[in-house]
Amino acid sequence: MNVLVVGSGGREHTLAWKLSQSPKVDKVYIAPGNSGCAQAGECVDIDVDNFRLLVRWAREHDIGFVVPGAEAYYVAGIVDAFKGSGISTFGPDQAAAELEGSKIFAKNLMRRHGIPTADYAEFEQIEPALRYLDSRPEGPVVVKADGLCAGKGVIVCRNLGEAKDAVRRMMDGGEFGEAGRRVVIEELLRGQEVTILALTDGKTIAPLASSQDHKAAFDGDAGPNTGGMGAYSPAPVLTDELMDEVVGRILVPTVHAMNEEGRRFRGLLYAGLMLTAGGPKVLEYNVRFGDPETQPVLMRLESDLFDLLMATAQGKLVDREMKWTDDAAVCVVLASGGYPGPYEKGKVVSGLDKAAKHPDTVVFHAGAKLTPRGDVVTDGGRVFGVTALGSTIAEAIGRAYAAVGDVSFEGMRYRTDIGKKALVS
Ligand code: AMP
Ligand code: GLY
Repeated sequence: MNVLVVGSGGREHTLAWKLSQSPKVDKVYIAPGNSGCAQAGECVDIDVDNFRLLVRWAREHDIGFVVPGAEAYYVAGIVDAFKGSGISTFGPDQAAAELEGSKIFAKNLMRRHGIPTADYAEFEQIEPALRYLDSRPEGPVVVKADGLCAGKGVIVCRNLGEAKDAVRRMMDGGEFGEAGRRVVIEELLRGQEVTILALTDGKTIAPLASSQDHKAAFDGDAGPNTGGMGAYSPAPVLTDELMDEVVGRILVPTVHAMNEEGRRFRGLLYAGLMLTAGGPKVLEYNVRFGDPETQPVLMRLESDLFDLLMATAQGKLVDREMKWTDDAAVCVVLASGGYPGPYEKGKVVSGLDKAAKHPDTVVFHAGAKLTPRGDVVTDGGRVFGVTALGSTIAEAIGRAYAAVGDVSFEGMRYRTDIGKKALVS
């Protein structure tokens, strides 16, 4: 069968790489893809936001299965667009994608169904939001835009003054467009963050190996939030006991809640959790694979990803087994200088061939493209995810950074402490 992966990031390169290993997959197309995707299949230069065009293209190219990467496609209804086309599509339909598309929807769902999360209030008008902040005791608070903001709509504020600024920027300044018209203000949670990715067809829930992202831009978790500067799997803080608690108190109730509300969720449910002193609480839901968590998690998967994703899409996930290597995996993101702020593009990259020769190491491409001359040049904030396996986290860290040392481009920046948390916990 031919498979189409939609998107252009590190996650999509990783999905294409893993799907292409399935004996059931003849050919993987990636639209639009990036400079790395050619290793896994064929990049397709079409307008992926035009779903009618995409369906027509998929029909013409005998595609049997479509795997969209980013949330924006799901929220815009890509799965609905393929309904009736005879082509299976992985992931939630538009109604179920609301779980990520609206933070207010997600928070209210959790409140209605008793799923542990930070206390919050929601606002559609700026004045009540500011009055609410005035009524709170001084201290940190988190302000979130309701809609999709490409990972930038959450502002962790140290005090009420910062929170008021954040509210004004969202609700008055229009900095986040329509997405910031409504906001959630919530209590700050403290603890370690972990990511749980789970496949679900709305009946069966199959958690993937645990992982931990590094959201802050700089070492020691300093600086602004980014899309993720690196990740590792497994996350040792997530013990078997804790995992049982997460499944019982969060994943199962979430899938049931969506069913009860007539929004059956099929696809990849991403639960971003804070392990607080009062137990695990949901920071956010996403409705797609995490980036960069997917890179180390899928490096460790021994089972056929195509089988798993297709079974999810077809409602046949029951009794599917997932096999994982005991090895750990670490992904270090190489970013453009300035990211997550403004950065320059078009920097020529060197050393990729050498980096790829390290044992058990894959350099997943993200914001990188090929020039007509065949050079790889930077084309985004997060440019590569250098990912390595090792028998321990420490070995995987050593291997990943050894390969990082071979890659260079002007302004290249990365965190030097990816995975360290796993060594001390
Ligand atoms: P979200 O998109 O909701 O996951 O938020 C992005 C990041 O902001 C999370 O990964 C956390 O690091 C941080 N964050 C979000 N909500 C909270 C909260 N209530 N308390 C502490 N940190 C938070
Ligand atoms: N790594 C965070 C995300 O995928 O949303």
